[in-house]
Amino acid sequence: MPFEENRQFMMSAFAESVHQRSDQARGVPYPALQKPLPEGENRLIDLPEPDPRLTRKTDFFQLLKDRQSWRKYTPESLSLEELAYLLWSTQGLIQEVGQGYASRRPVPSAGARHPYETYLAVNRVEGLEAGIYRYLPFSHQLLFLEVSSTLPALLTEANLGQKFVGNSAVCFIWSCLPYRAEWRYMDHAHKNMLIDAGHICQNLYLAATSLGLGVCAVGAYDQAAMDALLELDGRDEYVVYLAPVGKI
Ligand SMILES: Cc1cc2nc3c(=O)[nH]c(=O)nc-3n(C[C@H](O)[C@H](O)[C@H](O)COP(=O)(O)O)c2cc1C
Repeated sequence: MPFEENRQFMMSAFAESVHQRSDQARGVPYPALQKPLPEGENRLIDLPEPDPRLTRKTDFFQLLKDRQSWRKYTPESLSLEELAYLLWSTQGLIQEVGQGYASRRPVPSAGARHPYETYLAVNRVEGLEAGIYRYLPFSHQLLFLEVSSTLPALLTEANLGQKFVGNSAVCFIWSCLPYRAEWRYMDHAHKNMLIDAGHICQNLYLAATSLGLGVCAVGAYDQAAMDALLELDGRDEYVVYLAPVGKI
């Protein structure tokens, strides 16, 4: 049958007793839920606390009806407050559980493993230099990684010519660190990690809609080019999903 392996991958294998064989069961210490800071001096940017007064639409039913994918953005910038609200809504920390073993966030994650990091390709955000950043959920800060004045062209190319990605005010890019979930679920982890990504992006859609901003999920990208843009090794950390955001 065609695609047999991929179809199998979508099925649940949890009837097998995965927990008895996992690194968690063998007492291997749990992996960090936030990628450590690079060595040396880092430029950290404190983000404003998420402010619910920013929301323009508060009727939940209307929000669901209004959610849609937007691929045209105005040249306006996002404010840092709007960006902070979106970051918190997708991956912000509500509560640390068990001294860093797990965390509670606005999105669910299988086993509370939260295996994603959020990178930003910033083109137009008030107060931020254009470039690449990483969100630090545990301190609600941004880590500045790299300046780039050619992001629009790079993003368009790395997204197979989808110009709206390069034209966005900011592009959310989610990388997966699979060991965070493999530690607990081994070979059963990967299906659930993909489902986790869907939850994150749905929260971005809903939060952005509530602020009057546009988003479009993107799964069609060049894996090697996106990993290279973020300087990821493509093995222990790699891009899985992204979503440009802009004013509409
Ligand atoms: C997993 C996933 C991947 C997607 N990838 C792309 C993409 O690469 N390019 C694009 O233009 N839209 C992409 N989309 C957006 C869909 O085309 C869009 O959700 C669909 O057409 C329904 O439209 P709506 O979101 O406005 O309801 C993707 C959506 C999802 C959920």
